[in-house]
Amino acid sequence: MSQESHVYPVIWYDDHVRLIDQTRLPNEFDWVEIRRYEDMAMAIETMIVRGAPAIGVSAAYGVYLGAREILTRDRTVFLAQLEKVAERLRATRPTAVNLFWAIDRMTKVAHQTLGSVDYLKQVLLETAQTINADDIRTCQQIGDHGLTVLPPDPEKLRILTHCNAGALATAGYGTALGVVRSAWRAGRLERVFADETRPRLQGAKLTAWECVQEGIPVTVITDNMAAHCMKLGMIDVVVVGADRIAANGDTANKIGTYSVALVAKAHNIPFFVAAPLSTIDFAIADGSHIPIEERNSSEVYQVSETRLCPKGAEFYNPAFDVTPAELITGIITEYGAIAPADLKHKLQDKHVS
Ligand code: MRU
Repeated sequence: MSQESHVYPVIWYDDHVRLIDQTRLPNEFDWVEIRRYEDMAMAIETMIVRGAPAIGVSAAYGVYLGAREILTRDRTVFLAQLEKVAERLRATRPTAVNLFWAIDRMTKVAHQTLGSVDYLKQVLLETAQTINADDIRTCQQIGDHGLTVLPPDPEKLRILTHCNAGALATAGYGTALGVVRSAWRAGRLERVFADETRPRLQGAKLTAWECVQEGIPVTVITDNMAAHCMKLGMIDVVVVGADRIAANGDTANKIGTYSVALVAKAHNIPFFVAAPLSTIDFAIADGSHIPIEERNSSEVYQVSETRLCPKGAEFYNPAFDVTPAELITGIITEYGAIAPADLKHKLQDKHVS
């Protein structure tokens, strides 16, 4: 496989966006064409595209698609209608802050750009393309910085990851899986252990698929096996992604991440979070302020079309949990790996908003 064998799940193609349909992987590989902002909003809601950076990039294109649908030539009317587009996209998923970061960046550019409405639209497309390209570069930097903080022993590491923080969850390359990719390419990886990640199974379906595509050795385990594997000495380090990191380093990521962090701590195994600066929300002091998405209970009681649980039971389906900063060894960003306690003074001034 070539060095560039990972996928790019969000691409601008001719006059529209193409998204890999992540709801159909690993059994079918399909592109969905998105030409209207409402279709982009629905693609984010239904998780055709998912993963914090990937939904940020998609939402940026969504703002442009919405701008393109606005017919007025009056700048004030245009900006008012653009705000409605932004509102719709903001309402798609609440936890990943990259979504809000990208939409805010797009609307800010629209407000700050002088010139005709046609020119504004052109600048909005260029801005979305910049956000897209920057995210790929950022992930590669995260991967390279991650390599420098992985434990020196053993030489070939067994890395556990949770959910999918890979190329599919970003514009390309991945955050946590970017670190894995960089380790693989540097000859420092023995194997990835991928938690299956109930209820949506992003680990079993997407992380495993990405690894298989690229020839990276991967073992899928069910979520309740991580502690056992750690106790048996099968895991050297944990690397996960993030959906929103508070100013104190508390980190929201896919449900189940918190328990992985707790068992890693109990077994003295380093636990890293890999994420771009756009995932850090300096406006939130700690993790208690992070909104946690609750999804449809059918994700818990059924798998595919098969109902697992009796009617009459009740269900609870939070999509994310918050890992306290004290369980996190380091946060790997495009600026290097940083202790959670240092985030604010080392990175806040670098934040592009
Ligand atoms: O519900 P999802 O699939 O969008 O959740 C994705 C995750 O939790 C990822 O770990 C996170 O977004 C990091 S992606 C680089």
